[in-house]
Amino acid sequence: LFARPFLFVKGCVRIADLPPMDRVEIAFAGRSNVGKSSLINALCGTSSLARTSNTPGRTQELNIFESQSESLRIVDMPGYGYAKAPEDKVRQWTRLIHQYLTGRATLRRVYVLVDGRHGPKDNDLTVMNELDKAAVSYQVVLTKADKPSAGELTKVISATQAAITKRPAAHPQVILTSSLKGEGLRELRTEIAMLLES
Ligand code: GTP
Ligand code: MG
Repeated sequence: LFARPFLFVKGCVRIADLPPMDRVEIAFAGRSNVGKSSLINALCGTSSLARTSNTPGRTQELNIFESQSESLRIVDMPGYGYAKAPEDKVRQWTRLIHQYLTGRATLRRVYVLVDGRHGPKDNDLTVMNELDKAAVSYQVVLTKADKPSAGELTKVISATQAAITKRPAAHPQVILTSSLKGEGLRELRTEIAMLLES
């Protein structure tokens, strides 16, 4: 699946701009700057598919990528929780994220990315609550695992696991990743490939 290139299809600022629901979709959601676009690039084995940046608020649209070999679409989402963005932008992104995450029939799973240094924050839990309510399957992925110390990471993993226990739509297993070091990519690719088979 990830051996063949993925192509950028389009960026959508409105739900109406989305392509027809003719493929399995997975989405990468999470706080601004958590590493969504970087993880998509790392998974697809390129540094330039999704645009990344040091500055939060880089991804401002639902960016659509499609596999050349399988019926899979990857959606890179704008981040949430970026306090410095203009208010109307924040409102627009929040609405777009909410509408997409809770109203897309072909959305097979959401990867909720959480910073491996900090663990889940209030707005991550809010998104998980929405996904639970909408009965959308999701899995938590910790990012930037190369940054915290081993001790810090252990604490974050326990806190993350505690936050997802008993959540109806959450996949129990937390995946630890580093786009920089390549950690966890194989595991995540295997998970995604399994979604296509089920
Ligand atoms: P928005 O689109 O603004 O919501 O951000 P994003 O979640 O797409 O984050 P992005 O991939 O643009 O990465 C944000 C910053 O984190 C960039 O400076 C990346 O280089 C850095 N980063 C991403 N993944 C990793 C990682 O695994 N390790 C380290 N050390 N840095 C990372
Ligand atoms: Mg991004």
